[in-house]
Amino acid sequence: ALVDKGEHRHFMAKEIHEQPEVVGHTISAYLDPVARRVTLPEGGLDFGRIDKLTLSACGTAYYAGLIAKYWFETYAKLPVEADIASELRYRDVPYMPGGAALFVSQSGETADTLAALKDAKAAGQQTCAVVNVPESTMAREADAIYPTHAGPEIGVASTKAFTCQLATLACLAIGAGVARGVLSREEEERLVGALLEVPRHLAEALAMDEALRDLAHEMSGARDVLYLGRGVSFPLAMEGALKLKEISYIHAEGYAAGELKHGPIALIDEAVPVIVLAPKDALFEKTVSNMQEVMARGGKCCLISDEAGLAEAARGGELWGRVPVPSLPEGRLTGLLAPLIYAVPVQLLAYHAAVAKGTDVDQPRNLAKSVTVE
Ligand code: AGP
Repeated sequence: ALVDKGEHRHFMAKEIHEQPEVVGHTISAYLDPVARRVTLPEGGLDFGRIDKLTLSACGTAYYAGLIAKYWFETYAKLPVEADIASELRYRDVPYMPGGAALFVSQSGETADTLAALKDAKAAGQQTCAVVNVPESTMAREADAIYPTHAGPEIGVASTKAFTCQLATLACLAIGAGVARGVLSREEEERLVGALLEVPRHLAEALAMDEALRDLAHEMSGARDVLYLGRGVSFPLAMEGALKLKEISYIHAEGYAAGELKHGPIALIDEAVPVIVLAPKDALFEKTVSNMQEVMARGGKCCLISDEAGLAEAARGGELWGRVPVPSLPEGRLTGLLAPLIYAVPVQLLAYHAAVAKGTDVDQPRNLAKSVTVE
């Protein structure tokens, strides 16, 4: 089928704006909105019988997997090991009986991810794949598949496939928690209820599109940008940095906020914008205190948080940028929803910075949409 850009200037913009809809489709494949339960497809992994999950992918799909690692640990108490596929396939992984391996891929054709899947299968692991192309090689090779319903993604920079991977993985983590007897019926209902609100929060977050443009334009003059986050926001910080590098060609790093003083804080001066991802979860105060350390050294910080978070952090001094995102339900639920919602400002910042620089947003130099050779 022919896909066009509609009213948008680039496929990437169109795909960013499709997220409420496609994440909605993806969620409805794995949740029953009336009963507020997770409904995982027949023939999938039996999470009740697994004692370890190995998770692997490349690039953006890997960052989705890393976020899911936190979720599987929190909601299902399932030990997870995550690694990029180009490493996993060449490690001497001691796969144990009772383990399963999960691979994440938009295309289902990435050479390293496919090779890692075949190895895990040959080593006796149950394998499954979260893929956006149901007729792909990975979908055929894996014992079970969990399709994402993002629709065709044309932009080389992955956006809607990422949030649909997160949506699928969130459902899997909750389903695993139920199967393992970790989540009560009430907890399942609360988590499912929260996930059902994601499309609405995404639509709200997309309303900031225009507002982010000026900030992104300013950022587009930088040579280096740092992204900071803790917990589930740490992989999202890496995803933000990857997005920015690949389409704007600005050097960027995603760092765990707590790791800053172990080296990268030496980079800080007024020329390095620092993007801080700080949802109001249990780690908010810790992240903000890392941000204040940066500010105390003359660093210019842009805080992405909700209004309450921005107000609280404002006491620490003048921010270079403030990005308000919709406020999310408290506590454990924030950790589930934040990566999906905070993905939007992260994508928009990279998009507008690239547009400001005049790069080929949908087809950045040197990159292929799917890396089918090693
Ligand atoms: C994302 O913006 C990248 N272009 C890239 O990292 C991509 O996510 C990676 O190559 C994995 O591709 P896949 O999901 O098709 O396996």
